[in-house]
Amino acid sequence: MKIALLGYGTVGKSVEALLAAHPAGIEIKKILRRAGKARGPLMTEDLEEILQDPEIEAVVEVLSGTEPACSYIRRALSAGKHVVSANKAALASDFPALLALAEEHGVSLLFEASCGGGIPWLESIKKAVLFDEITSLKGILNGTSNYILDSMDRFGLDFAEVLKKAQELGYAEADPTADIGGFDVYNKALISCSLAYGGPIETEFPVCGMEQLNKEILDRFHQEGKSLRLMMLSRREGSRYAVGVVPAVLPGGSIEANVRENYNCASFTGSVVGELKFYGQGAGGDPTADAVIQDLIQLRDHTQRPVRLSKKLIYDENLLTGTGYFADGSRREGTLAQLAAAAKEAGTFLAFECAL
Ligand SMILES: NC(=O)c1ccc[n+]([C@@H]2O[C@H](COP(=O)([O-])OP(=O)(O)OC[C@H]3O[C@@H](n4cnc5c(N)ncnc54)[C@H](OP(=O)(O)O)[C@@H]3O)[C@@H](O)[C@H]2O)c1
Repeated sequence: MKIALLGYGTVGKSVEALLAAHPAGIEIKKILRRAGKARGPLMTEDLEEILQDPEIEAVVEVLSGTEPACSYIRRALSAGKHVVSANKAALASDFPALLALAEEHGVSLLFEASCGGGIPWLESIKKAVLFDEITSLKGILNGTSNYILDSMDRFGLDFAEVLKKAQELGYAEADPTADIGGFDVYNKALISCSLAYGGPIETEFPVCGMEQLNKEILDRFHQEGKSLRLMMLSRREGSRYAVGVVPAVLPGGSIEANVRENYNCASFTGSVVGELKFYGQGAGGDPTADAVIQDLIQLRDHTQRPVRLSKKLIYDENLLTGTGYFADGSRREGTLAQLAAAAKEAGTFLAFECAL
C-alpha cells in the first residue's frame, strides 16, 4: 500500500524510520513539507500532487495545530483517500463532520494515535461498544501534566520549578498552555466520549486547568491522604452524559494517583465487562508512530472498524456531581459545571472529587 505523510516532525520522522526498519507492505510515496522545506525526491510542497496520485491510497496527517491540518484532512477524504491522523486538535475541531465526510466518500478516517499515543485506548473502546454499553470514562491523558503532578507529589517541588524542569527535558512545550490548561485533554475527551457513547457530544463542557496549582494547595490534599491528577471525567446514563476536564482529587493509594512521570492511564466501564484500565506511553515519536502504523495495517488488511456517530446524546451536568475544592481551602458540593463556573468567575483553582 502506498501512502503519503503530511508533516515531517517527531511523529512523521518516526513513522518513516519504523517503516524503513519494518516495511509491513507500506511504502511512503510522498511527504508534504512547508514551502521551502521540500528536499529530496519524496518531498513535495504541493498537496494536490498527493491527492491526484491514484497510487496513494492513504494519507497520514501528522501536522501540528488545527489549520491547515483540518482542511487537508477534508481535502484528502474528499479525494477518496483514507486518512490516518494523530492530530487531536484538528480532529476535535470538527469531529462528527470529518467522520461523516469519510463515510460520504467511502473511505476511513482512523485516529488511534490521537488519544493516548501508543496505548490501544480508542481501539479498545471501538471493540467494547460492539457489545457493551460504556457507562463511564476517566483518564490521565496528558503526560506533561502528569509529570508535573507526580514530581510535586514525590519530590515536594513547587509547580513553577517542575514546569521549568519538564521544559528542559522536552516533556513540556515552551508554551505549555494546552497541556496544563486542560485543552489537550479536552480534545482527547471529545474524541473518546464521542466514540464511547456513539454520538456527537457538545463541544462546550467544563475545562479546568492546573495553572494556579502550588505546593501549599497540594500539601493540603497530601495531609488528607489524597493526591491530584489532571483528568478527563465522564459518566453516561442511557442517552444522557456529562464530561469535564479537571484536576481530580484521588485517594493516595489509587492506581491513578500513582501513575509516574509522563505516563498515561485511562479507563472505561462497560455494562458487561466492568472496569478496564489502560496504562502506558501516551506520547513520544515511536509509541505514537506505532499507533499510526497499526491503523495503516488495518487499512492494508481492510480490517478497520467503521465509526458512526449516530446516537442523539443529551448533555446532563447532574451526572458529574461531587465536591469542589478551591484554592483558599474552602469546599462545596455541586455539579462540575457549577463548580467550574464558580472557580472561573473567582479566577481561582478548582479540584474536583467524585465517585466514578
Ligand atoms: N509527539 C507526540 O508525542 C504526539 C503524540 C500524540 C499525538 N501527536 C500529534 O501528532 C501531530 C504531530 O506531532 P509532532 O510531535 O510530530 O509535531 P511536530 O514535531 O511539531 O511536527 C509537525 C510537523 O508538521 C509540519 N507542518 C506544520 N504545518 C505545516 C504545513 N502547513 N505544511 C507542511 N508541514 C507543516 C511541521 O513542519 P516544520 O518542521 O516546517 O515546522 C512539522 O514537520 C500533532 O498534531 C500532535 O498533536 C503527537
